[in-house]
Amino acid sequence: MDAKLQAMLSSLSPVARELDALPSGRPTPDNGCVKLNTNENPFPLPGIVMRSAIAALELQYLYPEDDNVSLRQAAAAAYGIATDCVMAGNGSSELLSLIYRAFLAPGDGVAMMSPGFSFNRKLAMLQGARFIEIPWSEPDCLPMDELLFGAAKHAKFILLANPNNPTGTFVPLAEIERLLIRSDRLIVLDEAYVDFAPEDGLRLVERHSNLLVLRTFSKSYSAAGIRVGFGFGHPELIGRLRNIQNVFNMNVVAHAVGMSVLAHRDAYEENHRHVRLERQRVAAALSEFGFSVTPSHANFLLARVPVGQGGRWWQAALEDHKVLVAFFPDAGLEECIRVSIGTKRQMDAFLPAVGSILKKVGCRG
Ligand SMILES: Cc1ncc(COP(=O)(O)O)c(C=O)c1O
Repeated sequence: MDAKLQAMLSSLSPVARELDALPSGRPTPDNGCVKLNTNENPFPLPGIVMRSAIAALELQYLYPEDDNVSLRQAAAAAYGIATDCVMAGNGSSELLSLIYRAFLAPGDGVAMMSPGFSFNRKLAMLQGARFIEIPWSEPDCLPMDELLFGAAKHAKFILLANPNNPTGTFVPLAEIERLLIRSDRLIVLDEAYVDFAPEDGLRLVERHSNLLVLRTFSKSYSAAGIRVGFGFGHPELIGRLRNIQNVFNMNVVAHAVGMSVLAHRDAYEENHRHVRLERQRVAAALSEFGFSVTPSHANFLLARVPVGQGGRWWQAALEDHKVLVAFFPDAGLEECIRVSIGTKRQMDAFLPAVGSILKKVGCRG
């Protein structure tokens, strides 16, 4: 490293220095692979949504609408909520990072049900905040005492993804409402996967001022690459968050796709049905192979691998078969892989790959 570069890097903030640099020239590993590692929805946009995206390109010379007014209005109408309770984001991860910036000063605490969505750890670190992980004791109920009187007591907010990532487990709304009633903390309910689940928490927003619900079009609406997310909460809270948002945070294509998806959500019903059925089929097949599969309410499965090799080994073995799955070395998931539910063709590539790996290591397959 030359002296000038070294001097420049040494003036990074301590937090930015702590985060490991990404290896330069990192290859794109998913070339030609069946990509089941990031929970996208691999189906094309409905034709009408796609046409709105293409038409929006003709507006490329204009800034997008300030404060996403019409997109927020459309979301409000679609979800039956007041417009000033809605904010729109460049994916829900933009909204998550705004919440961290709005609430956390160095030394403050933020609590997350763990294992949970690991991006939150990085966001806490960027704020110099303490990241408090509250372990799940049961997959479908909250450790209420721990959240109310334990380590999370002084957290500025509590994060709960429902369905949860990477487990796919789901907490019934009645349980979440019990927490909202008893806690004076902000509860951030991240519903990235809720379209694959039995019920959603949006109606709780009008009843509880300490609730912020996040949604995304990345998982259930096939728009991960377009970046559309929404936040729903009390107008005072939403107003404060909108205040610190980037100007023109969404581009014109994201804006058009967001509007069009909101108008045509019924066009996705078949897609969501496919995901649920395929999830069931793949879970049964993996169980047959000797995996222990966590019942999932999302578009992915967390599976404990058969005794012998760990999750990292399975991830590499599947990659040799050109199938990408996720592995989480932290949070007690060393023996697990997470597999997104894709098209039937993708899953029909994944399952025989599992079978052939098992055959090679001398297990049934
Ligand atoms: C629980 C959870 N929340 C939020 C996100 C971010 O989604 P988006 O694409 O809207 O930024 C993800 C993506 O994996 C997720 O799993």
